[in-house]
Amino acid sequence: MTVLGIESTAHTCSIGIVDEGAKVLALAGDMYKPPKGGIHPREAANHHVEMLPVLLERALAEAHVSPKEIDGIAFAQGPGLGPCLRAGATVARALSLAWDRPLLPVNHCVSHIEIARVLSGLDDPMLLYASGGNTQVIAYGRGRYRVLGETIDVGIGNFLDKLWIALGGTFPGGPQLEAEARKGSSLYPLPYSVHGMDVAFSGLLTASLALANQGVARADLAFSVETTAYAMLTEITERALAHRQMKHVVLGGGVACNERLRSMVRAMVEERGGTMFAPPRNLCVDNGAMIAWTGELARRSGLAVPISASAVDPRQRTDKVRAPWRDQGAGALPGVN
Ligand code: ATP
Ligand code: FE2
Repeated sequence: MTVLGIESTAHTCSIGIVDEGAKVLALAGDMYKPPKGGIHPREAANHHVEMLPVLLERALAEAHVSPKEIDGIAFAQGPGLGPCLRAGATVARALSLAWDRPLLPVNHCVSHIEIARVLSGLDDPMLLYASGGNTQVIAYGRGRYRVLGETIDVGIGNFLDKLWIALGGTFPGGPQLEAEARKGSSLYPLPYSVHGMDVAFSGLLTASLALANQGVARADLAFSVETTAYAMLTEITERALAHRQMKHVVLGGGVACNERLRSMVRAMVEERGGTMFAPPRNLCVDNGAMIAWTGELARRSGLAVPISASAVDPRQRTDKVRAPWRDQGAGALPGVN
């Protein structure tokens, strides 16, 4: 079985092809970079419309497969920006019709979990999903992935990007802030905003900008911001583990590329006798392979839809969609005990 997946929820459009063992046969992507400031949904969607046919050619060539060998077409149905989602869904519908293959809608957040889960070999991990638009602690329970805690304002990546741009930098800010933080060592106190298993970042943004205005060195500011924000994420993940009596954690989302976040979560998890796993960076950020793999799980569970039921859902919550493959036993995942 070979499934093709299309990701186009926000900045990134990407096409991945995976086989039934979650082996990534091809991954081709491109990121829309706004000329200045934040993302403009329609501009990003135009970028995706232009790029998706190019990426399709590239992915098929890289995987050495012909359209006849593709068994399903998966696409990110939500959450995300409406125009961007529609660009990917339209290409998916066209391919499904042209190649006469099942159309498989996939929740973007669930796909971050599934790719991390299959690569980790951990059957039932907690997921810390930290990306631009999303920050959630997620675990499986009774047919669905449940959000145990999340940001109550912006996603952590959006917070990091906003801060970096306000400091005069360019998008994406997360990786550049990480490089800057490596040079810093003084820890300035910043608002630490944890509410049960939820977090908030707007106070942290205001206070960070105030420190910058007071002339605090950029490296020390970056170090303090990372230390505070990642400690918040580590704390809510630990609380979720304790409540659910779970041990293992997988990371997903673009901010999961961050070494500091990885090491802080790893230290916490290992202290509790568990294992922490983070996918390679190209599979942490938004990518078509995670959509393709989750599409394959959906295909096995009979979740293909007709075109008439394939509308995108910009606000689709992680816990709105079913994950019946989880109840079908670990057999749904290759090599997982
Ligand atoms: P989602 O729809 O899941 O919210 P997204 O559009 O935010 O996705 P991702 O590719 O998952 O896309 O994440 C992008 C975010 O990750 C950006 O905010 C970026 O700054 C951040 N990021 C990437 N690398 C790092 C890093 N090394 N450290 C911190 N943040 C990072
Ligand atoms: Fe994402």
